[in-house]
Amino acid sequence: MFKLEEISFTYENGNNVLSDFNLSLAKGEKVALTGGNGAGKTTLLEIMTGLLKPQKGKVFFEGIERKTEKDFYNLRVKTGYLFQEVDDQLFCPTVREEIAFGLFNLGKTREEIAKITAEILDQVGLSGFDNHITYQLSTGEKRLVALAAILAMEPEALLLDEPTAGLDKSAVERLKLILHNLNKTILIVSHDNSFIKPIINRTIIF
Ligand SMILES: Nc1ncnc2c1ncn2[C@@H]1O[C@H](COP(=O)(O)OP(=O)(O)OP(=O)(O)O)[C@@H](O)[C@H]1O
Ligand SMILES: [Mg+2]
Repeated sequence: MFKLEEISFTYENGNNVLSDFNLSLAKGEKVALTGGNGAGKTTLLEIMTGLLKPQKGKVFFEGIERKTEKDFYNLRVKTGYLFQEVDDQLFCPTVREEIAFGLFNLGKTREEIAKITAEILDQVGLSGFDNHITYQLSTGEKRLVALAAILAMEPEALLLDEPTAGLDKSAVERLKLILHNLNKTILIVSHDNSFIKPIINRTIIF
């Protein structure tokens, strides 16, 4: 589903993060990405979604090379990306609007959106949070809303950057079950071994 070929990436300040990096992620594979702080995990996810452009190398999605913004459009529709910084992700005033936004863009009707929103909030343990003000939520609640908004779109692939950061034990267990039962391609950045172990087939260590 994803293939990265000999990717090299250096930030503008000269910080070289990736050199000739290769990665293959087959459809349906569930992979953990671990490694120390600053190893380049978030940078890699941003390259995979076209938010950062590597100086060298190729990004393929479903066998097609992705270079321009237009190439990445279809990848982003099919790929749910949970940012490490949850405040960079949420942008709607209320939880209901946050979840409805993507669904509306997918062409869902009002009735469908209401039904999906109720189901997905129940799934992540936030039933009744529809009218809560997004910026007033706790960090853990924000992450769950961001996850709910992504899952609601039923993407084919999930790129999750530290999805359990700030989540309490029951939320972690709930998420573990959701991801375990999902039949999708998943790449999870996480340092939490007990969380990733029952979900993943393979680990990539930076
Ligand atoms: N905009 C930037 N300009 C320059 N250097 C950056 C920039 N963003 C990140 N870096 C550096 O690039 C390296 C990789 O950062 P990245 O965020 O990808 O690491 P990470 O593996 O996700 O770390 P963590 O586990 O702490 O989230 C780090 O050394 C970081 O300081
Ligand atoms: Mg990171």
